[in-house]
Amino acid sequence: MRKKTQLIHGGATVDKTTGAVSLPIFQASTFKQQSVGDFVYEYGRTGNPTRNGVETFIADIEQGTHGFAFASGMAAINSVMQLFHAGDHIVVTDDVYGGTYRLLTKVLSRVNIEVSFVNSANLADVQEAIQQNTKAIFIETPTNPLLKITDIKGVAAIAKQHQLLLLVDNTFSTPYWQNPLTLGADIVLHSATKYLGGHSDVIAGLVAVKDEKLAEELHFIQNGSGAILSPHDSWLLVRGMKTLGIRMEEIEQNANELANFLVKHPAVEKVYYPGLITHKGHELHKTQAAGFGGIISFAVKDEATALRVLEQTHYFTLAESLGAVESLISLPAKMTHASIPRDRRLALGIEDGLIRISVGLEDIADLIEDLTQALPQI
Ligand SMILES: Cc1ncc(COP(=O)(O)O)c(C=O)c1O
Repeated sequence: MRKKTQLIHGGATVDKTTGAVSLPIFQASTFKQQSVGDFVYEYGRTGNPTRNGVETFIADIEQGTHGFAFASGMAAINSVMQLFHAGDHIVVTDDVYGGTYRLLTKVLSRVNIEVSFVNSANLADVQEAIQQNTKAIFIETPTNPLLKITDIKGVAAIAKQHQLLLLVDNTFSTPYWQNPLTLGADIVLHSATKYLGGHSDVIAGLVAVKDEKLAEELHFIQNGSGAILSPHDSWLLVRGMKTLGIRMEEIEQNANELANFLVKHPAVEKVYYPGLITHKGHELHKTQAAGFGGIISFAVKDEATALRVLEQTHYFTLAESLGAVESLISLPAKMTHASIPRDRRLALGIEDGLIRISVGLEDIADLIEDLTQALPQI
């Protein structure tokens, strides 16, 4: 089955008892047992048919065997981290999402989970960071906000060699363009709040795996720690995911045109977009993903110039988040990456004048006109 068809027919999307083509919202916390221990579903935290619908859906479209739905992307990441024990060490992409950085360095550090941040785009750095107590490698590709590309197959080979788990946050690429489980990853994670939901109306996290034992452990953690997605939000997420394919195709086209417009603009100093042939990871990305996505970062002279651009756009909504139908604009240094100390941020290349846009589904001519009037005239 091809991707667009799978997005419509994947997962448990039809209700078996009524034939309803939209899986109903089973707003139930508990389920009647025929006799003790004789049940399909037992208790809403352990399992719910609507949540199960989105869980089988993500497993299908990520080409895994089991899926798990959580109350947010961070809840998904935190739950996966419960696989590890005090004293374990994890190698992590250095410009990982700011919230993940905060979770690892300020929350999980309390229970003695150790981390090393490396430029995972450089495989030698990943190899070098492995210690005796390393248990996993956690990467994002493309990264946020500099769109750095990591070789998933290359890191998977290193993980295999050292018997480590490979975790990939696939939020930016989405399962429509990239399927890390087929490239050697063990666990794929999503902030489903972004492209999967796609309409800025649900906070959710999804995980997919392809291994029975890992799935058993994750279900144990999901049930045991309880950060589950509600039935209503599960339904909303399925509704969004069905149109992922056409949204990504259209977003990609808009993003490509915008990136090429920005490259030529005299007030723009740098443009980061993996679809540009000048982007460092362009060729590598093409070998592991079928599309480049809708996130573009670009640098203007300084913070004051960036703030003016942010204030003067009409169609780019100034907001955190990404991946929705409307175009969004943000200043990573002051917003998504504010929890990263300035020195570290600058060392990563996240300058004060760096603007990130999440390209939406508006008419491209309006988006270009809008940025033209918002950028300084030089
Ligand atoms: C790449 C990435 N991973 C994880 C998260 C966390 O997801 P959530 O906001 O749904 O908790 C985000 C949020 O922006 C993200 O961009």
